[in-house]
Amino acid sequence: MTDFGSFQDGIYAEGLLAKHRRFPYTFVDLEERARQVLDHATFDYVRGGAGDETTQDVNVTELRRYGFVPRMLRDRSVRDMSTTFLGAELEAPVVLCPVGVNGLVHEGGDLAVARAASALGVAAMYSTLSEAPLEEVAEARGDSFAAFQLYPTKDDRLTDNLVRRADKAGFDALTITLDTGSLGWRPRPA
Ligand SMILES: Cc1cc2nc3c(=O)[nH]c(=O)nc-3n(C[C@H](O)[C@H](O)[C@H](O)COP(=O)(O)O)c2cc1C
Repeated sequence: MTDFGSFQDGIYAEGLLAKHRRFPYTFVDLEERARQVLDHATFDYVRGGAGDETTQDVNVTELRRYGFVPRMLRDRSVRDMSTTFLGAELEAPVVLCPVGVNGLVHEGGDLAVARAASALGVAAMYSTLSEAPLEEVAEARGDSFAAFQLYPTKDDRLTDNLVRRADKAGFDALTITLDTGSLGWRPRPA
C-alpha cells in the first residue's frame, strides 16, 4: 500500500534541514514555473481553452466548492485510500486524465507519467496522441491500472489497429473520447 502521507512528511522533514524540492508546491507556482520554462506557443496550448475560456474558469470555480470533510476520533495510524475501479484494486481514488502533448512539454513526458503512476500505484488513462509508442507506455506503467484513450477516426482500420495494439500491449481498459469531432475555437496559440 502506498503511504501517500509519508510524501508530505518527507517534505516537512527536508524543510527542517532547509532543503527544498525542485518542483513548486502549489498549482499557482507550478503554472508560473511552466510559463518560465516552456516556449510561448506550447504554454498557451496547454494553458489555453476555447473562446474566452469561460468554461475553464467555471470548472475551476466549481471544483473549489468541493471540500474535504475531516473525520474525527478515527484511527489514522494507517491511512488507506484504496478502492476498486472496474474490478481492479486502486491505491487511491484517482485516475490521471489523458494528456496528448506530454512529449511536447517534457522530453520523454509520456513515459515519465507512466513511471510516476507505476511508482505511486495510481491509475491513468494514456492518450492516443502520445509521443511514445503505446507499447512502451504500457510497459512503463508497470502494475498500475492503465486505460488506453482512443480517439476514434473515420478510418475503421486505423481505429481497429489501435484497439488491437492496445489490447495486445496489456492495457486494462479502453476510454473513448467523443468530444473532439471538430477542433475547438482556441484563439490563444497564434
Ligand atoms: C494539454 C491537454 C492535452 C489533452 N490531451 C487529451 C488527449 O490526448 N485525449 C483526451 O481524451 N483528453 C485530452 N485532454 C483533456 C483532459 O484529459 C481532461 O479531460 C480535460 O483537461 C478536463 O479536465 P480538467 O478540467 O481537469 O482539465 C487534454 C487536456 C489538456 C489540457
